Amino acid sequence: MTRLAGKTALITGAARGIGKVFAQAYLRAGARVVIADIDQARAAETAMELDKDNALSVHMDVTDTDSIREAIGMAESYGFGPIDILINNAAIFTAAPFTEITEDDYARCFDINVKGTLFTIQVVAQHMIDKGIKGRIINMASQAGRRGEPLVAVYCASKAAVISLTQSAGLNLIQHGINVNAIAPGVVDGEHWDEVDAFFAKYEGKAPGQKKREVSEAVPYGRMGRAEDLTGMAVFLASDDAEYIVAQTYNVDGGNWMS
Ligand SMILES: NC(=O)c1ccc[n+]([C@@H]2O[C@H](COP(=O)([O-])OP(=O)(O)OC[C@H]3O[C@@H](n4cnc5c(N)ncnc54)[C@H](O)[C@@H]3O)[C@@H](O)[C@H]2O)c1
Repeated sequence: MTRLAGKTALITGAARGIGKVFAQAYLRAGARVVIADIDQARAAETAMELDKDNALSVHMDVTDTDSIREAIGMAESYGFGPIDILINNAAIFTAAPFTEITEDDYARCFDINVKGTLFTIQVVAQHMIDKGIKGRIINMASQAGRRGEPLVAVYCASKAAVISLTQSAGLNLIQHGINVNAIAPGVVDGEHWDEVDAFFAKYEGKAPGQKKREVSEAVPYGRMGRAEDLTGMAVFLASDDAEYIVAQTYNVDGGNWMS
């Protein structure tokens, strides 16, 4: 209950899905959370639902550095500061056969998943340095970043970039006492995977829900992941127990990938 007591965590893309469940787990661990999302209305609903006193919603578009700065300023002005923990969770998925990838699709995915991660790390790390915070930064990578997939070139490349950024930022920022690490989930059920399933229905001619069933059956653990399966790692990496862990990416995927 008190593992993260006294800490304030900012979680991007926490209006729904994994980020929302992380916010819930951090609240249970005693932290206060800032739910930062481009979907302001849903972020506000989520904050109210989770804990109106210890959760705050702020608008943030991770592709816009001014928006990242404004969100941190807003959090501080409501007494949710300084930021001790950042989870870079916001991302989008995209898929297409290689010959059909468009520049727009590439730009949008890299803007959010890669540029968004890089500059949110930069702004929040500077904030931590200025405030003398020995902070924790956790990036959401993916098993998609461990290897390519025939229909998922852009998203896979963006998540490989997140693993690489975790290494570079981790090595550079540890001199300030800021630990940067990442979590690489496998397949996690939720609205995101409903969207993924729709891509595969389109490009592989599968019935709705079929891809989801196939990937679930292929997980060595025996079922698809749930956001709750990731919270142990998310709390651990933010806790004092993870002090000596630097620039790593941990697979939490029911055995899908080994590295
Ligand atoms: N669900 C999975 O199977 C799975 C697997 C591996 C990795 N991941 C990663 O985990 C993270 C969370 O996944 P999820 O399934 O909860 O996704 P999700 O699509 O349910 O949630 C993503 C959130 O990000 C927000 N967002 C989108 N663009 C934004 C922007 N520009 N600025 C701020 N917020 C923005 C959305 O509004 C949404 O609330 C992502 O990084 C995803 O790539 C998910």
